[in-house]
Amino acid sequence: MTTLSRGDDQQRRYWDQHAGTYDRGMRFVERRILRDTRRWACSQASGRTLEVAVGTGLNLPHYARDTDLTAIDLSPRMLAVARKRAAELGLRVELRESSATPLDFADESFDTVICTLALCSIPDDAAAVTEMVRVLRPGGRLVLADHVASSVMPVRLLQRAVELWSVRSAGEHFTRRPIRLVYAAGLHITEQQRFLAGTIERLVAVKR
Ligand SMILES: C[S@@+](CC[C@H](N)C(=O)[O-])C[C@H]1O[C@@H](n2cnc3c(N)ncnc32)[C@H](O)[C@@H]1O
Repeated sequence: MTTLSRGDDQQRRYWDQHAGTYDRGMRFVERRILRDTRRWACSQASGRTLEVAVGTGLNLPHYARDTDLTAIDLSPRMLAVARKRAAELGLRVELRESSATPLDFADESFDTVICTLALCSIPDDAAAVTEMVRVLRPGGRLVLADHVASSVMPVRLLQRAVELWSVRSAGEHFTRRPIRLVYAAGLHITEQQRFLAGTIERLVAVKR
């Protein structure tokens, strides 16, 4: 991997430290907050698929068995958990240690790019979306799902207050809106869903 930015280096250290507890910590979130988001995101995969910031591979069980899947993450320890999960599932997936910014893949080399719950923590979310769009072929689909700034003002204010602590301690943002970056990149949004006071947003966008 090329030299990491300071933000990426901090993220890698943070997630290496939390790789052993991430899945347990996510149990409540999976059940009560995400609903069917992982299944929904993975069901959009077709053709050569890239998952960006795969973490411990919590999406892996939801891909169709024959998905042609490559996945990257910054954190070797998160990837180690993902590798174990892929092996247990008998899933063929190429797991690579890499930053999302830049992605180490040729232009227009994937039919689908998926990223869940990671644009909230990738330090340069705008650069990450630019990279995802670059590696997507024209007509290919970008699938994003994340927690975002609420559509309800008091909740948004609370999110801003939480961010004062969470960005510094974990690089975790609560008021981002990846959809704006997707619009700015000129993609055509074909599906958008928002729930839980607008704090969870998922979308499918097609590269023109
Ligand atoms: C909250 S976890 C989400 C993991 C997984 N996507 C999921 O849905 O459970 C955030 C992940 O983003 C990864 N990450 C953060 N910054 C990154 C970057 N610049 N490039 C690649 N991965 C990054 C972290 O290592 C971590 O595994």
